[in-house]
Amino acid sequence: MSGASQSIAYLRVEHGEGKSLLVAPIGSTLRDVLLANGVSPYTRATERLNCGGRGLCATCGVRFGSDNDRSEESGSSDDGEDDESEAPSPEHWHDSLAARFGYPRLSCQIEVEGDMHLEIPEKIVWGSRRPDSDER
Ligand code: FES
Repeated sequence: MSGASQSIAYLRVEHGEGKSLLVAPIGSTLRDVLLANGVSPYTRATERLNCGGRGLCATCGVRFGSDNDRSEESGSSDDGEDDESEAPSPEHWHDSLAARFGYPRLSCQIEVEGDMHLEIPEKIVWGSRRPDSDER
């Protein structure tokens, strides 16, 4: 439901604590929107140990709806709900590599251009998102 004259976008975000619907100004940085709404793309460790949005550390990764649907080899989903979930084209070199090789996209390098459906994936390299997790 995004249009050229639209000034805000709706972001459906799935994360470890559930789902959130966020409102974001068009042109804002996805990472900034997530943090401003208390939906951090980081783990507890990378919340402090990150590159500050410079596109270097890759700890701010998110996946878009279309990334999550790749397991369906047969093609289209017929629910008609996820037409806004197409991943935005990468602009930054590091985000381009992430997109090319199927890694989570760098939210600090993605500008909100319209409605999005995304997921904050479970992250284990820099510590679990769950404080009670004892599994290794
Ligand atoms: S915050 Fe470091 S790559 Fe996004």
